[in-house]
Amino acid sequence: MIRRSYFFFDNSSKPQIIFYLCGIVKKHIIMKQTITFITLVLLAFSAMAQKPKPQPLTQEEFEALCPTPPMGWNSWNKFGCNVSEQLLMEAADAMVASGMKDAGYEYIVVDDCWQVDRDADGNIVCDPERFPHGMKYVADYIHSKGLKFGLYSCVGTHTCAGRPGSMGHEYQDALYYARNGVDYLKYDFCNNRGTNSKTAYTVMREALKEAGRPIVFSICEWGSTKPWEWAQGIGHLWRATGDIINSWNGRADWGGHGMVHIIDLMQDLYPYNGPGHWNDPDMLEVGNGGMNAIEDQSHFSMWCMFSAPLMAGNDLNNMSDDTKRILTNKDVIAIDQDPLGIQAHLSIAMGDRQIWVKQLANDEWAVCFFNRGDDAWSLNFNWNDIPELRKTGINYSVYDLWQHKTIAKTTAKNVVSSIPSHGVLMVKLLKP
Ligand code: GLA
Repeated sequence: MIRRSYFFFDNSSKPQIIFYLCGIVKKHIIMKQTITFITLVLLAFSAMAQKPKPQPLTQEEFEALCPTPPMGWNSWNKFGCNVSEQLLMEAADAMVASGMKDAGYEYIVVDDCWQVDRDADGNIVCDPERFPHGMKYVADYIHSKGLKFGLYSCVGTHTCAGRPGSMGHEYQDALYYARNGVDYLKYDFCNNRGTNSKTAYTVMREALKEAGRPIVFSICEWGSTKPWEWAQGIGHLWRATGDIINSWNGRADWGGHGMVHIIDLMQDLYPYNGPGHWNDPDMLEVGNGGMNAIEDQSHFSMWCMFSAPLMAGNDLNNMSDDTKRILTNKDVIAIDQDPLGIQAHLSIAMGDRQIWVKQLANDEWAVCFFNRGDDAWSLNFNWNDIPELRKTGINYSVYDLWQHKTIAKTTAKNVVSSIPSHGVLMVKLLKP
C-alpha cells in the first residue's frame, strides 16, 4: 500500500515542502521585522514631533536676569502700529552702526501690532504681510548682530491697540516666545476684565520660567496698582507712570504725560529701585522732535540719574548729531548703569531749580542741577549745602559728564556755572 503523505505529496516533493515551509517562516520573520522597523520609525518621528520639554528657570535664575537697567530700542514712540520685520532689522543695523550697541544698548523690542490673530489651536499669529518670515527669522537676524530681541503682549483679552492679548493663553504664548528666540517681554494691562494685577503678572512670570528661556519681564500697568509695592521678584522692571508724550511738559487728553511731569511722578519712588527691580518712567523721546536738544539732554540726564531702563524710542536710521551724541554719552550712561542701581532723589528744590543726587558705588556721587525754569540759572553753589555730601566729609573732584572734563579739583570751593533754561549741569564727584 502506498502510504499517502500527509500533505498528499510523495517523497519526491519533500524538498519542495521544506522549501515551502521555510518560505512561510521567512515571510513571517520579514513581516515581523518590517513591523518592528515601522514601529521604531513612527516612534522616532513622534519623539521628534514632541519637542523636548524645556528645563524651567528657577526663581533665583529668573530674578538674576536684569542686574542693571535694560538698554535698547522700542518701536512704539516713533512708529506706533507701523511695525515690520524690515523696521526691526534696520533698527538692529542702525543700533550697531550708530555706536549705540557699543554704548551698551542691546534689546530691539517690537511693541504692539506685530500680532493679528490666533490659529485653530490658539497659537498667536504674527502679521503675515509685515512679518512674512515669522518672528524666529527676525530674532535670528537680531541675534546675529550680537543684540537681543523683545516683543509685546498684554494681560487682557486684547492689547491696547486691539490685537489678541494673552489672557488664557499665557503658557502657550510663553512657549511661543521661548521657541522664537525672544529675550524680553513687555506685558501691558489693557482689557484686563478687572483681573488683579499681581495675580496676572505672576501667572505670566510662571509661564516664562516654565518655558525655560531667560526672558526679561517688563511690567506695564502704568503705575495704576503701585507695582513698586508688589512687583519685585515678579517682573524686572515696571512702568511707574502712564505713557510719556513727545513734549517737555503737559498732559494729553488721553492721559499721557510730558517729560517733566513724569520726573515729578518718579520723585518719591527711589526707595523701590535696585538691581533686578527697576522703576520704569517709560521709553525715551530723545530725537523725536518734541523737545529741543537742551531738553532732550535734560530728559536723558534725568533718566540716567534715576537708573531707569533706557529704551530709545526714535528712528535710529535718521538721527541728528545731537541725538546720537545724547544717546551714546557713555559717561552719562555709566551713571545709569552704576552697579548700586540707586535712583536719584531730590535733595534741594528752589522753585524751578532742582538739585538731584545719586549715590554711586565706591562712595562717589552723581549730581544733577536741573533748571526747569524759563531763565538761565547763574549757579554759584556751596557743595556743603547738599546734606548728603556734607555727611561724607570728603573733598571730591568735579567731572562734567556732558563736557567730558574735570571742571574743579575740589568740592571745597563753590561750583560756578550758567545753566540754560531747561538745561542741566550733570557732574560726577570723584574721590581723590
Ligand atoms: C500702552 C503702553 C504703551 C504702548 C501701547 C501699545 O499704552 O503703555 O507703552 O505699549 O499700549 O498699544
